Amino acid sequence: MSDETRPEGAARAAGAPGDGHGRTAAVIPAAGRGVRLGPGAPKALRTLGGTPMLIHAVRAMARSRAVSLVVVVAPSDGAAEVRNLLAEHALPERTDVLVVPGGETRQESVRLGLDALPAGYTSVLVHDAARPLVPVDTVDAVVEALREGAPAVVPALPLADTVKEVEPRPAGEPEPVVATPERSRLRAVQTPQGFDLDTLLRAHEKTAVNGEGATDDAGMVEKLGVTVLLVPGHEEAFKVTRPLDLVLAEAVLARRRATDAY
Ligand code: CTP
Ligand code: MG
Repeated sequence: MSDETRPEGAARAAGAPGDGHGRTAAVIPAAGRGVRLGPGAPKALRTLGGTPMLIHAVRAMARSRAVSLVVVVAPSDGAAEVRNLLAEHALPERTDVLVVPGGETRQESVRLGLDALPAGYTSVLVHDAARPLVPVDTVDAVVEALREGAPAVVPALPLADTVKEVEPRPAGEPEPVVATPERSRLRAVQTPQGFDLDTLLRAHEKTAVNGEGATDDAGMVEKLGVTVLLVPGHEEAFKVTRPLDLVLAEAVLARRRATDAY
């Protein structure tokens, strides 16, 4: 796509599919158990404000006019349940949804989602079901940077905490510090991470699953020697990981309801 054929201004940011760019799909890995959240249903099926986290995440992707297909990667024994949930919750007309069963690691689940993409998609957003509250402006910022030619785009925020590299020891034991990276040069990355589809497929083909697998798609792309671009992330795109994150997510939803933000 050349610059001359691109419409000017805001409409360019996240126009409808078929506006001259290749089509964009979103893959949502949602097959994790949520061990750190504690006992209960798989994390993506837990509710926030009465609605499953996964439905919030699907809606967050579908809110972007650029996204014409959402592929949900469900817990391996939960694809039927996820299909039922999606049937119960309305999505915009323009958005198609596919459900596929996931794998043992996030990396495998993303790969299974990519494998399910029909022909005709040239860009993909990979978005954690565990980040249910990402604002559409963040999604659109990633899409826009892709459309401007970046092969890999990641939303990110500066860190509040200073970070130490350590010599890891079993949980609970004291750990010796190895180094203290300069905080101002560090960023915490979020999702959706956006990619040129061929680039991400290449990265997944080249990266063997080791241990718990890659927790970040962009990291796999970096290993190809491809430059990953960071755009500003958003506080509300935080990942629901531990019980306190559920409290924060409910508070964000309550504030949105009070201010009619969505
Ligand atoms: N994920 C997945 N398949 C897996 C593991 C994780 O699709 N085998 C997804 C999760 O559902 C989540 C995202 O990857 O949306 C980010 O992972 P994380 O926050 O670690 O979720 P869980 O793995 O479910 O949580 P935990 O690590 O605490 O078990
Ligand atoms: Mg995990």
